[in-house]
Amino acid sequence: ASDDHVPSLEYGWNHQGFLDAFDAKAIRRGYQVYTEVCASCHSVERIHFRELVGVSHSAEEMAAIAVEQDYMDGPNDEGEMFERPGKLSDPLPRPYANEEAARAANGGAYPPDLSLMAKARHGGVDYIFALLTGYCDPPAGKVMLPGLYYNPYFSGGAIAMPAPLMDGSVTYPDGTPATMSQMARDISVFLNWCAEPEHDERKLQGFKYLIVLGMMLCVTGYYKRFRWAPLK
Ligand code: HEM
Repeated sequence: ASDDHVPSLEYGWNHQGFLDAFDAKAIRRGYQVYTEVCASCHSVERIHFRELVGVSHSAEEMAAIAVEQDYMDGPNDEGEMFERPGKLSDPLPRPYANEEAARAANGGAYPPDLSLMAKARHGGVDYIFALLTGYCDPPAGKVMLPGLYYNPYFSGGAIAMPAPLMDGSVTYPDGTPATMSQMARDISVFLNWCAEPEHDERKLQGFKYLIVLGMMLCVTGYYKRFRWAPLK
């Protein structure tokens, strides 16, 4: 079956508990891995700089990062398009202008936008981690076409993406050793956050809702007994 590759493992992520929030430091490291490694081929076009403010970076840090980028804007009063430095409200820059340019640069394969990748594939965040750490030699006898790499977690086993991570691909300022699996973990958490930036707030609000619901239940129960008491 084409789904043979799907990892049956659940790695167990720090944010997966009933009341657990995302690991903000992992998101910050994952953002670094994204910008230094993945961003040369993949966009995360649904995420804007401002959304990372208060999550992984301060407003000042993010504004300084955004201003380094150039964005086309306009038309201005003369009807011309113009280039301006980035602002917090801009989306993270994408590596290619369009799908055609992306395919042309990747031997015909299309590096998909990663904004919702943690939702898009069976296995979710576990799949991303498994894919990134799963590159290995093909089994004896399996012929690989040029430009394709063996990865048992990818449907069909032959992926056009070369293994993107190797030990030391980035240097973490927080001193975390940048092993391949550490970077895979961090980028997986980052991409999981991209796919559900409302995650922490959702759990908090859900918890509050349950508390208030519980209180209302007590009030209703008491009121019901109070009302019916004389009739019993
Ligand atoms: C596909 C993640 C870096 C080129 C993918 C997929 C994911 C992914 C999740 C989708 C697999 C699927 O469709 O199920 C990442 C991450 C990276 C990274 C997290 C950084 C750590 C790169 C780089 C390149 C690249 C640097 C270019 C050299 C591609 C291509 C595909 C792809 C061409 C399409 C593969 C195919 O359809 O055969 N990547 N990627 N990726 N990636 Fe990456």
